[in-house]
Amino acid sequence: MRTPLIAGNWKMNTLRAGAVALARAVREGAPADGVEVVLCPPFVHLGAVGEVLRGSRVRLGGQDCHEKPEGAFTGSVSAPMLVDAGATDVIVGHSERRHALGEPDALVGFKTRAALDARLAPIVCVGETIEERKAGSSEAVVLRQLDAALAHVRPAEAPRLSLAYEPVWAIGTGVVATPREIVPMHAALRARLDALWGADRAGAIRILYGGSVNAKNADEILALAGVDGALVGGASLTSEGFLAIVEAARKGGASAASRVSRGEGTR
Ligand code: 13P
Repeated sequence: MRTPLIAGNWKMNTLRAGAVALARAVREGAPADGVEVVLCPPFVHLGAVGEVLRGSRVRLGGQDCHEKPEGAFTGSVSAPMLVDAGATDVIVGHSERRHALGEPDALVGFKTRAALDARLAPIVCVGETIEERKAGSSEAVVLRQLDAALAHVRPAEAPRLSLAYEPVWAIGTGVVATPREIVPMHAALRARLDALWGADRAGAIRILYGGSVNAKNADEILALAGVDGALVGGASLTSEGFLAIVEAARKGGASAASRVSRGEGTR
């Protein structure tokens, strides 16, 4: 059984006071067990948010990292800097960076490597555009992105990874992918991980769904076969909305665990 993971990607939102208040409310409302929670604030708030989360079960994550540990890279933040600021996790390969900033697949592979070298847990994002889906190439695109992102990962490091399937057309649009779109893609990702590293090692890797997840649709999405959590954008910006998703994951994880213990198979 994989413990569900819910990660809040605040993107370029919040000023310091709001970030601190939001983190405090999430820390106070997060359940004691049954679900892991990560908050990914903007870089400039990592210190302040990390201070709020210190000693709690809620982890701190970066939204990106540079592929090099240090150097003349104006405006960039390295993985060791994230660790120094208190982060344990980092998002890499988010579609907003792939598409708006032109980050290629190979770069995501180097960033994943940099994150692992710094002992961060990477949340590797993959996802197709609407054009790619209409052309019938969703799975090929997502698996290509996956292969490139994992190109420099050693087998023993596999359990430290999470993936997030985020169809680009579902991000920030209010359009959620349907179960018939989500379930086969998660199955394809799982099959690729198993083929790469074997089910024992790859079995620990959580595959999250991301794209317009909110308090209303979280129950349904998190109950889908192969969905081990969510990467949440807009709905992570209020504690009520985000904690409702966290609770949906905790309940879904608990009911899946009891199905397994009753011999009824996994989700
Ligand atoms: P939304 O939840 O706002 O659609 O964003 C999803 C996302 O990109 C999380 O990384």
